[in-house]
Amino acid sequence: MTLPVTHPTGEYDVVVGFDILRSLRERLSDVESVAIITDENVAPLYGPVLKKQWPNGVLITVPAGEAYKTLDTVRTIYDQMFAAGLDRKAVVISVGGGVINDMSGFVAASYMRGIRFVTCPTTLLSMVDASVGGKTGVDMPQGKNLIGAFKQPELVLADLSTLKTLPARELSCGMAEIIKHGVINAPELLTDVKIYDWHEIIYGEDSNRRPLLELVTNAIQVKRDVVQEDPFEDGRRALLNLGHTFGHAIEQVSEFGVPHGEGVGMGLVCAAHLSAALGYCPPDMQQLLESTLRHVRLPLRIPAGMDGEELVEAMQTDKKKMDGKLRFILIRQLGEAFIDGDVPLGKVMETLRAVTADE
Ligand SMILES: NC(=O)c1ccc[n+]([C@@H]2O[C@H](COP(=O)([O-])OP(=O)(O)OC[C@H]3O[C@@H](n4cnc5c(N)ncnc54)[C@H](O)[C@@H]3O)[C@@H](O)[C@H]2O)c1
Ligand SMILES: [Zn+2]
Repeated sequence: MTLPVTHPTGEYDVVVGFDILRSLRERLSDVESVAIITDENVAPLYGPVLKKQWPNGVLITVPAGEAYKTLDTVRTIYDQMFAAGLDRKAVVISVGGGVINDMSGFVAASYMRGIRFVTCPTTLLSMVDASVGGKTGVDMPQGKNLIGAFKQPELVLADLSTLKTLPARELSCGMAEIIKHGVINAPELLTDVKIYDWHEIIYGEDSNRRPLLELVTNAIQVKRDVVQEDPFEDGRRALLNLGHTFGHAIEQVSEFGVPHGEGVGMGLVCAAHLSAALGYCPPDMQQLLESTLRHVRLPLRIPAGMDGEELVEAMQTDKKKMDGKLRFILIRQLGEAFIDGDVPLGKVMETLRAVTADE
């Protein structure tokens, strides 16, 4: 399945399929010199299939996890690229989850003022979200994704077979972004998510491939349509941040013990609660989202003991804050989200209290 994506300076394909990682070089026939950037979990699994295609390629392995999505890690990547003598003709190939995608894209945007970039997402989350749209970057102690660049890939290759090795918790994380895509632009995705037991489909013995291919393709299409319309997030693209002001704060305050997708899931529950508290949608929106999130085995509550004040403080450093007011993406109905730049702090605190687990 191939989805073309257009952006202000060109076009690229998102290719989705099974067992396609080994066909990467055929699709990049002009590419000789590569830096394959991956993390310590993914390197032993999928490093060999890439090294086989580019025996002289430089394989750069960094520690796994959000805590390493930093300028320090980026610096170690530059060092290894210089040590290998890579010049402006080199191509960065990202192989991994969203963390690796975001960092590799940033490296490609900045190494010698920018070199070519190809991304092979190996988490569901990165397939349906991070790898499409050209946002790249790293976290700072002051907040998530605060340093970055727009860097469009020239190819996205999503090999669904790689999901078989993905930890079940990470699979659920990807589902959180799919549910989010559904809420903002494609209510039918929520129905699709609920039809199957995805853990069974992906990890089971004789899995039926069709539903997974369709779900992932449909989810990518939602992201594609939104970023094509608003490539630099001047407007509508901000809706993709539904659940993220809460989610990023939860991730940060947990010191990344709560992974991104789980934070987004909890953030969706918060967004539904807050939207209802402000009278924008009926209270059953929260129940509907909770039942969908529960179906994909996501936790619904902010972990007990997380301090509301601390969460609000973390939200203040979020980029989505504008003019000193807290900006939230809220829900009117399924398929209709909007930006509210003037949410009273009291209502936010109330939502945090309601959505935090009891001790
Ligand atoms: N650029 C964007 O538009 C965008 C959009 C959404 C999210 N993001 C970013 O994406 C990041 C989250 O991405 P993520 O959830 O993919 O996390 P991740 O990259 O940390 O990957 C999750 C874990 O799975 C492991 N892993 C990856 N693929 C595997 C596989 N096939 N088999 C076994 N293990 C595997 C990784 O080593 C890691 O431990 C966050 O930093 C978030 O900010 C960016
Ligand atoms: Zn996200």
